Amino acid sequence: MAALTTPATTPIEFEYVDSREATDIVGINDSYGVFVDGSFRKPLSKKYLDSLNPATEEHLAKFAQGSERDIDRAVSAARDAFGPWSTLPGAERAKYLFRIARMLQERAREFALVETLDGGKPIREARDFDVPTAAAHFFYYAGWADKLEYAFPGLDTRPVGVAGQIIPWNFPLLMLAWKIAPALATGNTVVLKPAETTPLTALLFAELLVEAELPPGVVNIVTGDGETGAALVQHEDVDKIAFTGSTAVGKAIQRTLAGTRRRLTLELGGKAPHIVFEDAPMDQAVEGVVNGIFFNQGHVCCAGSRLLVNEAIAPQFIAKLKRRLNTLRVGDPLDKNTDVGAINSREQLDRITDLVAVGQSEGAEMYQPECSLPSQGYWFTPTLFLGVAQSHRIAREEIFGPVLSVMTFRTPDEAIDKANNTPYGLSAGVWTSKGSRILWMADRLKAGVVWANTYNKFDPSSPFGGYQESGFGREGGRHGLLPYVQGVH
Ligand code: NAI
Ligand code: MG
Repeated sequence: MAALTTPATTPIEFEYVDSREATDIVGINDSYGVFVDGSFRKPLSKKYLDSLNPATEEHLAKFAQGSERDIDRAVSAARDAFGPWSTLPGAERAKYLFRIARMLQERAREFALVETLDGGKPIREARDFDVPTAAAHFFYYAGWADKLEYAFPGLDTRPVGVAGQIIPWNFPLLMLAWKIAPALATGNTVVLKPAETTPLTALLFAELLVEAELPPGVVNIVTGDGETGAALVQHEDVDKIAFTGSTAVGKAIQRTLAGTRRRLTLELGGKAPHIVFEDAPMDQAVEGVVNGIFFNQGHVCCAGSRLLVNEAIAPQFIAKLKRRLNTLRVGDPLDKNTDVGAINSREQLDRITDLVAVGQSEGAEMYQPECSLPSQGYWFTPTLFLGVAQSHRIAREEIFGPVLSVMTFRTPDEAIDKANNTPYGLSAGVWTSKGSRILWMADRLKAGVVWANTYNKFDPSSPFGGYQESGFGREGGRHGLLPYVQGVH
């Protein structure tokens, strides 16, 4: 694989020695078919798309553009596999899930590298967050597979059937794990549709399933773009759709499924408030806010993209925040020192660029550290907007990039009013040294998850999901089993 030649040079006080992760253990095929009934097959569509490395714009592999017929073949395979898989004792299903989890751990480095190459996220994050958390989800749900009568005492629960699962490009392997692990633990079979810019870890995962000797048809993976996803949603023999992605597509899916017997869970966008009180530990809060918005280039549904800071400390806090922005290292995702990697695609870069231009034209004051970006690939400088009004589009719309909109408040009530002034409701962050204030805020914030004095903490045992236009249904924890069982109300 060709080297990245133009690392970014953010002006920082001292330089680190290059620490580039070697990619020689990665084997990416030239082309991939669809994974149906336990093996890779040529797509019936005979069509292929390209996956790029967004940090270099290099071509990585061709992958199938699954058609309606490919989806149909995958759904039939999942239907045929459903009988035997759903009647297998839970302890037997658990053995497969434990095996998958262990194999993900064994091949963690390879998965992390492929995730970084295909999607542009810093290797540090793929290595320390995406892959271990994905493995942890398989371990966690393996534990539930033979204990479902304890999860739902006194109820006779049955699996739902064939689950159609559509995932986005921001955490490709982790979203795969969130979807597949609970479905399999409860005895369902799956057709998964990865995102079109990041199919490669799902395809590597399909190879892992063959090695794990998972019975054919239990998991089928059909790659392709939104048309492939729409074909899965429309397929009448799918019993349940689980979708993570944009609110617009989520609404379209909901319209398609309205009035049908097919079940639906949606995990959509967000515009999370990150609220800093005057008694917050200031330096930790700066780190939390930086992590909240610049983690994964801000391509995070629960990103803390609206900072609400108490007016009394705002000047000091913003000065510290600017100082911290100047030390973020933007550039080669394979360098272990990199904090902010590449934007996932040209389309996403265009969306970010457009919304940032709107922010400027609406009168917010933009701050960007001096930062020279690589000449190849898709990049965006970490950005603050000061003096943002609630009516500005950058305060209301999901940017899904490294852009933070800063507002102020005077009283806790005002903080709540501003925080809840959004059609979304996925997550929120609160920074204060008073425990009682955390509880007071958590009671009033309309958000599925409220983090206090921390941010972006994930654990497989903890449910995650939204209110309002952020979607419905929970993933993770005991709650995450619910969408995949019938007999519980
Ligand atoms: P998207 O919603 O189009 O893509 C997500 C997944 O849905 C992909 O696998 C895609 O192929 C599939 N898809 C697209 N159209 C479909 C359809 N009609 N039926 C079924 N599946 C379909 O999101 P996109 O265009 O990549 O990003 C647009 C914006 O969405 C981002 O700027 C961000 O604001 C938001 N987004 C939110 C995510 C989250 O984690 N909640 C993840 C990705 C995007
Ligand atoms: Mg790619």
